[in-house]
Amino acid sequence: MLAIANWKMKLDVLQSVALAQAMVKSARHLPQGTEVVLCPTFLSLAHVAAAVKGSTLRLGAQDCFWETQGAFTGEVSPADLRQLDCQYVILGHSERREHMQETDGQVHRKLEAALRTGLTPVLCIGENYQERSGSQKDYVLIRQLQAALQGVTLGPDDRLVVAYEPVWAISTGGTGIEATPDEVQYASEVIRHIIIDLYGAAVLQRSVQIVYGGSVNPSNVASFTQLPTLHGVLVGSASLDAATFLAVISAALNPMPSRTTDRSNTVI
Ligand code: PGA
Repeated sequence: MLAIANWKMKLDVLQSVALAQAMVKSARHLPQGTEVVLCPTFLSLAHVAAAVKGSTLRLGAQDCFWETQGAFTGEVSPADLRQLDCQYVILGHSERREHMQETDGQVHRKLEAALRTGLTPVLCIGENYQERSGSQKDYVLIRQLQAALQGVTLGPDDRLVVAYEPVWAISTGGTGIEATPDEVQYASEVIRHIIIDLYGAAVLQRSVQIVYGGSVNPSNVASFTQLPTLHGVLVGSASLDAATFLAVISAALNPMPSRTTDRSNTVI
């Protein structure tokens, strides 16, 4: 189970270090197979890296540039992220697509650079409320995923995480409507189909994980993580406090018995 914390720009450096230290203490008790990834701001990364060193917690960035070196004032190299022990990088988050006008083409270039550098991209895709109301959801998922992955090879050592994040379900800036497990299951099946189209079922099984993000909290997380096609969650607001984020992780790991628990990457 993959639990990725997206702290966005919500914590300062000191708060990020304190939260990372609190997470390190509790992460000792997490069962094997639970991968917890902390994604602080760029400026906090080195400090959080020091705080999580020697623990099982992983580090991720919230973005990166598409070149590793050069005259690109203000940009952040994926190679530098690797030097700071980052293993993951969130790419194409809807907040970047909206506020920074990030395009599908830019996300594609960033994804290529991230893979080249040995980072695992957490590629965020998802429709906004208008697109959902206009029955454009599948189209948006297909467009964003194909544009990001066109021409990208996934070798045996590469990993890709695709995060289905319907914009309307994100806690800040969303509509206040929560996605239902059925909607998330449907979207994850669409994503699987596209990945199979692009790479085949064997690569899907070997290299790709699908997570859900959008107002995930301790009460609803199990309804998503029990879905047979999901491998974890991307958590924003509920990851900003150690006790709440741990409650999310523990609810995902110890769900109340209800839906199917078959987590195999069965080909559809
Ligand atoms: P949220 O954020 O959990 O606060 O909805 C998720 C995200 O934007 O990645």
